[in-house]
Parts: sequence; structure tokens; C-alpha cells
Amino acid sequence: MLILGIETSCDETAAAIVDGDRRILADVVLSQIDVHRPYGGIVPEVAARAHLENVDAMVAAAMKQAGVGFADLDAVAATGGPGLIGGVMVGVMTAKAIALAANKPFLAVNHLEGHALTARLTDGVDFPYLLLLASGGHCQLLAVLGVGDYRRLGTTIDDAVGEAFDKAAKMIGLGYPGGPQIQEWAAKGNPTRFSLPRPMKGKPGCDFSFSGLKNAVRLLVETLPKPLSDTDIADVAAAFQTAVAESVADRTKRAIDIFTRQWPHGRHLVVAGGVAANAALRAALTVLAARSGLVFLAPPLNLCTDNAAMIAWAGVERFRLGLVDSLDFAPRPRWPL
Ligand code: KG4
Ligand code: ZN
Repeated sequence: MLILGIETSCDETAAAIVDGDRRILADVVLSQIDVHRPYGGIVPEVAARAHLENVDAMVAAAMKQAGVGFADLDAVAATGGPGLIGGVMVGVMTAKAIALAANKPFLAVNHLEGHALTARLTDGVDFPYLLLLASGGHCQLLAVLGVGDYRRLGTTIDDAVGEAFDKAAKMIGLGYPGGPQIQEWAAKGNPTRFSLPRPMKGKPGCDFSFSGLKNAVRLLVETLPKPLSDTDIADVAAAFQTAVAESVADRTKRAIDIFTRQWPHGRHLVVAGGVAANAALRAALTVLAARSGLVFLAPPLNLCTDNAAMIAWAGVERFRLGLVDSLDFAPRPRWPL
């Protein structure tokens, strides 16, 4: 089985070809970070235009890398949402056009399902497993029970965790995207000099919240002399990162308790999303998983962040079950799992 996947829901224009034996035959990603950097964040209009300009070339590059033609494909998958609507429309239209021209089925994949099923592509993990999806746009804890069968244990009530990293970074004068820079500065900082709140820690349920922490960083920065010294930047970054890691670990611990009670045969805690790159968070989750008898699994970073291999793979899983979509499918800016 051979499936082409297209991802255009955020700021990566990506195409990939994956087969039914978990092999990635092609995987190309064009990041728009440099296009958006001058604005300090993603501008939807700019993103949609960049997707439109680049998607054909990315599909052609993937086909070339895999050494196949459209006639060799079994189906064409694209992210159908959730995401920035202009970008999603570009990917969906492109996939539909190829499907129509080559007479192949079309698959509309939920972007979150792409993230959720990645561990099955990379490691062949069996259902059920617990997933922490921590990216710039999402922050959720999901029990992944089967294809199309997800139980949401927790979600953010305000900002996504990556968004909090990006905003905190901006406040201390670091560029976009902020997560990697916060991590770098935090390594040189003292995490105990400033005390920041641990949002939701100890609260019932598994939901996240980061807006209070973001506000606390803002108030803290206001009290510091400007321009911030390197020591102050490093210490705020370290305090922030520690607060996030503790908060996420607390929420994940609760989700692990629910997951292991309800699905005792589950074996894995999996992370996905760009924030999965964060070393402090990984360290905290590794300890948590081990304590609960779960195996901690972090797919390679290029498959944790937005990519089309995960969309092609979700396409494989759905196609196997006969879950194809009509060409009437309308892109969905919001699409909860
Ligand atoms: O999954 P992703 O590439 O895109 C989506 O948002 O879907 O995630 C990007 C987010 C950004 O907010 C970025 O700041 C964050 O992931 N990020 C990190 C790190 N690397 C990327 N956050 C914390 N620590 C990192 N090392
Ligand atoms: Zn994503």
C-alpha cells in the first residue's frame, strides 16, 4: 500500500509517501519560520499564500524522492483540519485534484489523529497508549484506543504550551520560535532565583492552563531593570521552564493514573508536538513513566513536529479500515478528535 500525505495546516508545507509496512519512502518539509519571524508569530494570510506557492513543488519532490508516479498510489491524504483555514484549503484542494486526476480515493485526515498515530508508524506501538500532545497549537492528553477511537483526558483551558513558551520568550527579548531559545538560556540559569506559579498543580482532572503563568512572567519582567541582563534572562527562562515542566508533569501523572486504571493493558506513554523536544520536560516524563511501569516513547523530533508522514500514515490506517472521504469534504478549521 502506498499513500501520499499532504500537510498544510500551520506553518509547514509538507508532503510524504508512506507504505503499509511503516516505511517512509519520502518525507519533505518546507518550514515557513523565516517568513513569519519578522512578525514574531504566524500570520495566517502569509502562511496560506506560502502554502499555495510551494505545495506543488513539495508534492513533486516527495514523488521524486520515492521514485513513484500518481498511478502507483493507493490513495491521497491531506490534513482536513483543525488548523488555519487558508492553509488547510490549499492542502485539501491539492489532494482532491490529484485524487480526481489519478482516479484514487481521497482521505481527509484530522491533524491531531496524525500526531496521535505517529508512534505506530515509528515504533509499531499497540493500542491502547497514553499520548501527551504538546505543540504550539495544542496541549492535550489522550488515551489512544484505536483508529478513530480517542478519549480526551485533558486539554488546555487557555493557551497551548508551545504558545506559552513563545510568548514568555518574547517577553524576555528572545526571538521566535521561543521554545528552543528558552531551553538554551534556561540551561545557563538558576531555576530557583524567581518563584513562578505551577498552573493547575494539585487540581482535580488533567486540564492545563498557561495564561496565569504567562502573566506572572510579564509581572516579573516588569520589576527587572531594562535592558535585561544575561543573568536575568537566563534565570527567568529557567524559572519558566521549570514551572511548565512541573505543571505538565503533574497533569500527566493524573492522566497516567486514570489511564493505567481504565486500560491496565496499556504499556506506553508517548509524546508528540514541538514541545516534546524540551529536555526538561522529557526528563520529567521519563521518570513519571518509569514509576508507573510505562515505557516512555518520544518519536524522532522531525516526526514529533508537523510533518506529512504522520498524515500519510494516518491515511494508511484509515484506508485499511475503508474510511475514505468524499470529494465534497469541506475543510474544518475546528475539528476535535
Ligand atoms: O509541533 P510544532 O512544530 O508546531 C505546531 O505548533 O503544531 O510545535 C512548535 C512549538 C513552538 O511553540 C516552539 O516554541 C515549541 O514547539 N518548541 C519547544 C522546543 N522546541 C520547539 N518548546 C520548548 N522546548 C523546546 N526545545
Ligand atoms: Zn501539529
